[in-house]
Formats: sequence, structure tokens, C-alpha cells
Amino acid sequence: MKPDEVEKVGVVGCGLMGSGIAEVVARTGIGVAFVEVSDDAVASGWKRIEASTGKAVERGKMSAEDQRALIGRVSGGTDIRSLADVDLVIEAATEDQETKIRLFQLLDEIAAPDVVLATNTSSIPIAELAVATNRPDKVIGTHFFNPPPIMKLVEVVRGLPTSDETVEFARGFGERIGKTVVLSKDRAGFIVNWLLMPYLNSAVRMLEEGFATREDIDQAVVLGLAHPMGPLQLLDLIGLDTALYISNVLFDEFKDPLYAPPTLVKRMVTAGYLGRKTGKGFYDYD
Ligand code: 3HC
Repeated sequence: MKPDEVEKVGVVGCGLMGSGIAEVVARTGIGVAFVEVSDDAVASGWKRIEASTGKAVERGKMSAEDQRALIGRVSGGTDIRSLADVDLVIEAATEDQETKIRLFQLLDEIAAPDVVLATNTSSIPIAELAVATNRPDKVIGTHFFNPPPIMKLVEVVRGLPTSDETVEFARGFGERIGKTVVLSKDRAGFIVNWLLMPYLNSAVRMLEEGFATREDIDQAVVLGLAHPMGPLQLLDLIGLDTALYISNVLFDEFKDPLYAPPTLVKRMVTAGYLGRKTGKGFYDYD
């Protein structure tokens, strides 16, 4: 199948990333079926899509009519078997290797044999998911950035068994949905997180050591480096649990203290201070 022949995409998981990916795909005029684990999670997924597209309308990025049409192209439910007729699957479930392996085994049974199974993982080896299926050549990473409707990049990650054809398909599809695509090999962190995590962890260590206040650390980066937000604000956006998971994966892979998660992040995750999604992280949110 060619990227411009894709008519319907299955999105597994409709959290922060899955809902954004569903929005981006549907905005291009492609049908989307998303799957979540419970009715409550499906309802939250809808809320995220409605809120994000609502903001796009408010800011003049989309007409109210286009928003209605976009939402009309999306369906959501809890039955993964509803993905039997999709032309591409993008998995954006919880960042947990066992969960993803089980999902890929299931998706391999459900989706037509020629369908590409893509994952939005930020750190799990693509090869681990590929070998869980009978189509390892058709498994690939498509790593979107938070928030997907705004961030322009997709990292396409090639596992050792991924075919050239699948890489070209993923690249073409990424471009079709308006993203700029970069290609990375299958090693922990890919391009962006490999660079990002040591920087974020260093900012937390600065705070832990009383080197500077959270406000000064963030403001220094915003004004001194022209980043849209500082590192502690960005950790709150990404979610501290996700950042901790990625740091641990990087540390496991490279055994370099550069990637070791700071104690404060571990304790904050234990306490449930995960950032924006729980209303409290380095900052408080309403
Ligand atoms: N569709 C289209 N456009 C939209 C939109 C939507 N659903 N929602 C908002 N927008 C537009 C707005 O209209 C606005 O456009 P404008 O600049 O022309 O006015 C623009 O997007 C920004 O929207 P907001 O005003 O709502 O948001 P802010 O200006 O407060 O910016 C932010 C928020 C985009 C999060 C910005 O602070 C930012 O870019 N932060 C850095 C994010 C980042 O680094 N993400 C990567 C994280 S790492 C990652 O994801 C990897 C993972 O593996 C950990």
C-alpha cells in the first residue's frame, strides 16, 4: 500500500499522545478508529480531542465546520477487534514493554497481513515489538512529540528487521499528515530523547542541589536559549512518570550515569506528582 492510499488508521491508546495523533490523522481527511481500555478512558479520549480541536477553532486555526467534520471521521471504543479493517495501526498505549508486546501479538492477529504496525514508543526497542509478530518487516517506530497537533516532527525508527518498503511507507505517511520526518536507528532515546533526557535530568539536579530556583532555571532557558519552555515546565508537560521510564531505559542501555534518573524525580513519581496530568509536578496546575 502507498501512503496516499491509507483511508483508515487504527490508533491504540487515546491518552495525551494517542488523542493528538488521532487528531492529526483525522485533520488530514483520513478516518481514525481509536481503542482504549475502558469506557471511561474512551470518554477521556473524546474530551481531549474535543478540547484540542476546540482550541484550534478558538485560535482561528480551524473552522467550526472542519472541527465537526474531523470529529465525524473519528470513532472510539474498547474492542481492539474493531481495527480489523484499518490500513495502518499506530500504537500509543502505556509505555510498558510487556503491555506493548502483548498488544503487538494481538494486533498481528487482527490486522490484515500487509498492514504496517507502527508504535509511538519513545524508548522500547522496535526489534522487541517486531519479533512478537509474524510480520517483523512491517513493524516500525513513528515517534510523535507532545503535543502532536502542534509539534512538527516525527522520528521514524527502523528496527533491524524493518524493510526498506516499510521505512518509505512510514516516511511518506508522516509527510502526508503534515510532519517533517527524520530517520533514526533503533537505539534507546532515538535522536531527540537521547539528547533531551540528560538535559532535563541536569535541570532537576540543579534544583535538588539548590543551585537555582525552579523559576530561574526555567526562565534562564526560555530567555537565554529561546526555548518555548524551561526544562522543569517541559518535564511537567511530558509527565514525570514518562520521563522516569525513558531515563531508566537509557540508563539500562548505555550504563552511563548521564542518564540515571535523579532521586527527586523518583520520589515525585512515587508521590503521584506527575506534572500537568495530575495537577501537580514542579508547578501546580488547576
Ligand atoms: N491544532 C492546531 N494548532 C493548534 C492547536 C491544535 N489543536 N492547539 C493549539 N494550536 C496552535 C495555537 O493556535 C498556537 O498558534 P500561534 O502560535 O500561531 O498562536 C500554537 O499552536 C501554540 O498553542 P498555545 O498558545 O495553546 O500554546 P503555547 O503557546 O502556550 O505553547 C507549547 C504550548 C506548544 C506546549 C509550547 O510551550 C512548546 O512548544 N513547548 C515545548 C514542547 C516540547 O518540547 N515538546 C516535546 C516534548 S518531548 C516529547 O514529546 C518526546 C517524548 O518521548 C517525551
